[in-house]
Amino acid sequence: DTSPGTDLAGLIAEVADYPTPGVRFRDITPLIAHPGGLAAAVEQMVAAGPRDVDIVVGLEARGFIFGPAIALALGAGFVPARKPDKLPRPVESVTYDLEYGSTTLAVHADAFGPSARVLIVDDVLATGGTAAAAAELVGRLGGQLVGITLLLELSELGGRERLTRLGFGPVTSVL
Ligand code: PRP
Ligand code: HPA
Repeated sequence: DTSPGTDLAGLIAEVADYPTPGVRFRDITPLIAHPGGLAAAVEQMVAAGPRDVDIVVGLEARGFIFGPAIALALGAGFVPARKPDKLPRPVESVTYDLEYGSTTLAVHADAFGPSARVLIVDDVLATGGTAAAAAELVGRLGGQLVGITLLLELSELGGRERLTRLGFGPVTSVL
């Protein structure tokens, strides 16, 4: 069902010590497997964030699940921010640390123009490193960041504070 009563938090599985010891991993796959869960998540993510958006930037990999659905709802275009060596044309890229390891995000350098109002979408905000890298890329392309929308925020990891300190936001999360 897609009623507001859908228990989204109850559809997220917690996995101890994945992918490394000490991490309690929140697995969103049961939520997106539930037909009403996916619909309710997208609906609430759209409702929580800005409406006046030209481009949704989705972050590989799980931002590719929610980002295009949100872009459709907003009448916006979709731009993938990808892991290294995946995009075929010239890119802007940023390397950053994760809760578990380090990686790079890249977008095509011509993905959007300087007047674009850009919304960043991902599934989980943890340390904020991924979202901060994406926001840095939006700025390098000259885009105007209008928001960062997440399904789930792990507030104890300080991602929101990190993004706020860097001047990136507003940050909106559903869970
Ligand atoms: C996860 C998650 C976010 C990021 C959050 O992706 O989907 O993108 O980590 O962590 P942060 O706030 O500490 O940066 P991951 O890098 O594991 O990649 P995946 O989506 O390809 O599995
Ligand atoms: N779940 C999903 N993605 C994540 C997590 C998590 O617990 N921590 C960092 N990225």
